Amino acid sequence: MRFLQNGDRIHLVDKKGRQYALTLKAGEVFQYSGQTIAHDDLIGKADGSLVMLSRGKRMVALLPTLGEYVLKMPRGAQVIYPKDLAMITIWADIYPGARVLEAGTGSGALTMALLRAVGERGAVVSYEAREDFARTAMKNIERLLGPVPTLTIRRQDVYEGIETGEKLFDRIVLDLPEPWRVVPHAVHALRSGGVYLSYVPTVPQVMQTVEALERAAVFGLIQTFETLLRTWNIQGRSVRPDHRMVAHSGFITVARKIEPGLWGSAGSDGPSGSEDEETGSGQARDAEQGDA
Ligand SMILES: C[S@@+](CC[C@H](N)C(=O)[O-])C[C@H]1O[C@@H](n2cnc3c(N)ncnc32)[C@H](O)[C@@H]1O
Repeated sequence: MRFLQNGDRIHLVDKKGRQYALTLKAGEVFQYSGQTIAHDDLIGKADGSLVMLSRGKRMVALLPTLGEYVLKMPRGAQVIYPKDLAMITIWADIYPGARVLEAGTGSGALTMALLRAVGERGAVVSYEAREDFARTAMKNIERLLGPVPTLTIRRQDVYEGIETGEKLFDRIVLDLPEPWRVVPHAVHALRSGGVYLSYVPTVPQVMQTVEALERAAVFGLIQTFETLLRTWNIQGRSVRPDHRMVAHSGFITVARKIEPGLWGSAGSDGPSGSEDEETGSGQARDAEQGDA
């Protein structure tokens, strides 16, 4: 059983599912629409407890999931939504012990997902050009995860180069405006077999990124996709998609660093070429190719 402690970031959730974030501090009082509850009345309660505010409003006190936390934490830059964080960690294949290069840190949402996935034996090196964003990100990260010896934030322009230290990176994950400018550095900083992933909101950015990957000649299995998450309303006989959804967030481009030679240059017959245009997805291609 996990009990709420002084210093925890928690969410109070009302009947409609609306979440209110607060950091527990002994002696302080949470106020909501004219009603209050002392933090001392929350400290010591089990995670998931039902609590009552001063005029009877009931709420549930929860330690937020990472996805819930990123939606409520203070932002410098726009964060990556949970639906994309989920896709990125699997498609970039972030594994325990991996050495990951990230840019830019932004508000730290993706950084946290990477840190959790690499675990205690891994490492995340995150480039962030802006000092203020790096500071906000570090606060966000430490408030949820505590001290993180596996994280290094470099306040540097990643377009100018990537420092590798003694070991190359296993994974490179980018969320910044011009990832194609990082591709020439990724060629040297990523180990063979490593995964490159970038996330951009517009089609011209995707085009420039894929062109740069193809030009570099050491990337294969290049794929681009987006994720549409449609939630449903399930109430009695009203079972239907919700009326509102986030229709667009960003495109994810993934590639593997490989020894050149199997596939030709841009637009040829490889997995990133025209053969699969009609199937439109990695899954469809897998189904067509089978295990042969
Ligand atoms: C969209 S935000 C990243 C948000 C982050 N992924 C998150 O989930 O919180 C893009 C970040 O990249 C940073 N950035 C832009 N160009 C950069 C560069 N050349 N080198 C390092 N960071 C850069 C920006 O300052 C900004 O913080």
